[in-house]
Amino acid sequence: MPNHIQHVVVPGTFDPVTLGHVDVINRARHLFPQVTVAVAESRTKRGIGTAFSLEERVDMLREALDEQGVSSLGGVSVLPFTGLLVDFCRQQGAGGVVKGLRAMTDFESELQQADLNAQLAPDLESVFVMSNPGYGYVSSSIVRELALLGGPVEMLVPACVVRRLREHYGTEG
Ligand code: PNS
Repeated sequence: MPNHIQHVVVPGTFDPVTLGHVDVINRARHLFPQVTVAVAESRTKRGIGTAFSLEERVDMLREALDEQGVSSLGGVSVLPFTGLLVDFCRQQGAGGVVKGLRAMTDFESELQQADLNAQLAPDLESVFVMSNPGYGYVSSSIVRELALLGGPVEMLVPACVVRRLREHYGTEG
């Protein structure tokens, strides 16, 4: 009998969560019965830290997954983590990591991370889903830039995140 993976982790910085992330989490949940979304502290991200605190990013994700109907599938939880992803997966008893791939530009760094994680935890499977073509260009960094400049972000992020971005950047969008 093959030992099917029951529980996967979808990790990321989620600064902030986008509709592209929500799509990946939703698809991970359709592939596996239990999904833990792991929000990395990422204190050293871009050398300057994140725009939103770890607590804010976790809150936004929970709200976004409720708003977008993913929570109602059941089996989805959101937790913060610090330290190595492989250690978090081990603590949670997860057998795999699911990530979304957009363009070729994502591939190199994702392969590097997957190879490193495979060295650190040979039993942990890395699974990639191709991003929904409608969200291929969406990233947290373009969302932050648009929001900072007062541009429209409604088509890129859940409504609850639009509100948080306006509060954070003090713009009307
Ligand atoms: O959304 P991001 O910033 O592309 O996510 C990257 C993340 C958080 C998944 C990655 O940096 C990570 O796994 N960080 C935890 C620390 C770790 O395990 N590092 C070694 C693997 S890169």
